[in-house]
Amino acid sequence: MCGIVGFIGKRDASSILVEGLSKLEYRGYDSSGIAVIDDAVINVSKRKGRLSNLQDKLNIEPIKGSIGIGHTRWATHGEPSDLNSHPHSNEAGTISVVHNGIIENYLYLREWLMKKGYKFYSETDTEVIPNLIDLFYEGDLLAAVMKAVAKMEGSYALGVISSMEPDKIVAVRKDSPLVVGLGTGEYFIASDVPAILSETRDVYYLNDKEFVVLEAGGVTVYSPEGEKIEKETSHITWSADAAEKGGYEHFMIKEIFEQPKAIRDTMTSRIIPGKPVTLDDIALTKEQIENIDKIYIVACGTAYHAGVVGKYVIENLSGISVEIDIASEFRYRRPIINKRTLLIVLSQSGETADTLAALREAKARGARTLAVTNVVGSSIAREADDVLYTWAGLEIAVASTKAYTTQLILMYILGLYFAQAKGTLTASEIEEIKSSMLLLPEQTEEVLKHREVLQKFASNNYMHRDMFFLGRGLDYAVAMEGSLKTKEISYIHSEAYAGGELKHGTIALIEKGTVVIALATQKFLFDKMISNIKEVKTRGAVVLGFAFEGSNSIENTVDSALYLPNTLDILAPVLSVIPLQLLAYYMAVQKGCDVDKPRNLAKSVTVE
Ligand code: AGP
Repeated sequence: MCGIVGFIGKRDASSILVEGLSKLEYRGYDSSGIAVIDDAVINVSKRKGRLSNLQDKLNIEPIKGSIGIGHTRWATHGEPSDLNSHPHSNEAGTISVVHNGIIENYLYLREWLMKKGYKFYSETDTEVIPNLIDLFYEGDLLAAVMKAVAKMEGSYALGVISSMEPDKIVAVRKDSPLVVGLGTGEYFIASDVPAILSETRDVYYLNDKEFVVLEAGGVTVYSPEGEKIEKETSHITWSADAAEKGGYEHFMIKEIFEQPKAIRDTMTSRIIPGKPVTLDDIALTKEQIENIDKIYIVACGTAYHAGVVGKYVIENLSGISVEIDIASEFRYRRPIINKRTLLIVLSQSGETADTLAALREAKARGARTLAVTNVVGSSIAREADDVLYTWAGLEIAVASTKAYTTQLILMYILGLYFAQAKGTLTASEIEEIKSSMLLLPEQTEEVLKHREVLQKFASNNYMHRDMFFLGRGLDYAVAMEGSLKTKEISYIHSEAYAGGELKHGTIALIEKGTVVIALATQKFLFDKMISNIKEVKTRGAVVLGFAFEGSNSIENTVDSALYLPNTLDILAPVLSVIPLQLLAYYMAVQKGCDVDKPRNLAKSVTVE
């Protein structure tokens, strides 16, 4: 989605803004722009397309000044064009605004402002904002922004500058992320931490409707009611290197290869041999766990797929009934919730609008909430009653990989934690799962060694239009994720099917040469899965099968087989997803797709 950067200090703002925006390119965008104040005049430069187009323009027509705002736009209202790009200004060019989110009542506001003589030039919802601020401006920019915001419905993170008060940036957020970066004698705003990571690691996280004024002398934060408030400084531990490719061709492949470390880090201090599973970070008591009669796991996309595994794992280990739901469905279907309900939301970014809305809905209806997220200080992390962090490190590629495997790890840890509290597993059963989990980082490294086999399979199959992913039980959950990865980065249509379900209709699509990726890691379902593979083989499918080492009989049925290091069935998803990530990656590379920035997608979906 869109990205925001703002800078106030003594250095050249243009280069800092463009550099910051370049760190947000991964989020997906289709145009970019900056506005910088020079000698009490706002100069705006914007360009459709890649940030390099804006940079080219700035090389020819540089803009000077040390206070400015910048934006990468992902079109919602109006096509990608120079005109629709941000920043947007009032007609006099005295107020400029960058905005993430959607102003839902913009049509009403636009007409209302037009009746007052305001003119509009773009198709965007954002253009109403500088005009509203203009309308309310009476010599105090902060007051005008406050009045403008009071008129707006929807979601927003705003950065505002004005030539009438050329020594400040005013910012505010509601349902769209915004952080304030605290440097030495210079300050930043950013929609995401990576934009300012090379400048500062000290930030303020803003709550909804908190206003902030950045000036050369410091930063002042105001409550929604306009009272000055003290904010706590948070220190970001991600290194600036995390936002670099470090010799890899793409962020996605770098992040796939970071999984052994990410998995290890996520288990650290939580899984220790001979000691109970420890979750120091959550306040949920044994008594509260015993009282839970229903868990909902709610998430979107890849995080939802981790939740599908989570349902199976938590139910099996703890005996608590778990329902899994897509956040955009959950929030509108009025699920049965009471004080004995625990809602677990999974979200890499912690900012996904649908997941956040589902969390708020469940909380408002009395559920206890627990967030599993990768981003410290994100909205979801701050709003949930408890939060467990996946220590995956910064994930930049739009296609989520290490966030997924670390979410799986937390599903196991939660399952064990609940089992411990409820006594559904013996100490030795828990110990057995823990010791198998501790082998996963090394086993993940083993799986990554298959990269060349997968690269070869990808180069033989990337030209197919369709693919099927089959599995039963947990393998089906992983098949869903493999299918999503394939679709989102290689643009090959694919479907994930439960092995036993295919014959109820979809098998009609299997013909000579159809590529089927079959997962057969679940020992108790192995023979049944072999039968399902035979069903597609008989109809001409070309099958790549995945099974544990030792399950060599799969070779009698599939065209090629790849073996995974042995682990407990329940832990198989952590290992079996990795070849599917690699496969999707190599097919996308073969097709020449923009792997880290797939078309139409954004890293964090902060609008509904
Ligand atoms: C993952 O590859 C996707 N790009 C996407 O499905 C993502 O998982 C989804 O949008 C949820 O994001 P979140 O984890 O940040 O909430």
